[in-house]
Amino acid sequence: MKTLVVLTGAGVSAESGVQTFRDAGGLWEGHDVMEVASPEGWRKNPELVLDFYNKRRAQLFKVQPNQGHLDLVDLERDFIVQIITQNVDDLHERAGSAAVLHLHGELFKVRSVYDENEVLEWKKDLFLGDVGKNGDQLRPHIVWFGEAVPLIPTAIEMVEEADILAVIGTSLQVYPAASLLHYVKKGTPIYYVDPNPGISESAFPHLTIIREKAGIGVAIMRKMLEQ
Ligand code: APR
Repeated sequence: MKTLVVLTGAGVSAESGVQTFRDAGGLWEGHDVMEVASPEGWRKNPELVLDFYNKRRAQLFKVQPNQGHLDLVDLERDFIVQIITQNVDDLHERAGSAAVLHLHGELFKVRSVYDENEVLEWKKDLFLGDVGKNGDQLRPHIVWFGEAVPLIPTAIEMVEEADILAVIGTSLQVYPAASLLHYVKKGTPIYYVDPNPGISESAFPHLTIIREKAGIGVAIMRKMLEQ
């Protein structure tokens, strides 16, 4: 079986009702991204940051995987599918994807502010005063702007080994995630599903762009892959 690596972004969760980042005029629930998703924002106003993620975590209980997530699971009948997602929701997992790597962290996890290896499952609201085993404050287990992306070397290796790369619902504006497309082996086909793609066909050899929403575009890609 060939290995299909799939890089997803906020667009794959859009039809589930989860807001993307750059379609909403760049505001996140009305906040400047640096206020709620950066170490500076955390230092300046930790309650605002905790409240922002409490709202996003609570929303996750009200949304479901959409057809795009489910079509990616169906591809596991014909391929070894490895998902690399920039999303922090658990919709790929809830849809049934077997292998999901979260480049930017996960909403349902928190970690110690001092020990990034102390990571806890956390599905309720998080407040100042909620502490880990050593008594230090817990924070969302999310990669904020300006922070390292510890899983990027793993993601690069996955892309280097891929027989096919699919890119679903990402504006490809945030690095290092967007750089992953450069790591495919020579001659590897790339499929990009996005109604408003962030790059054009000339950006990469063997690039096919499907200008559709994920709920339709992943199924179109699957038909192309079966031919
Ligand atoms: N189906 C597929 N793609 C869609 C859909 C849809 N229904 N609706 C919107 N899109 C596309 C948009 O055209 C856009 O290209 O999804 C993409 C969303 O882009 P962004 O909002 O920039 O989200 P993303 O690329 O995931 O952002 C990357 O940046 O904001 C940070 O850490 C955050 O993980 C995020 C990263």
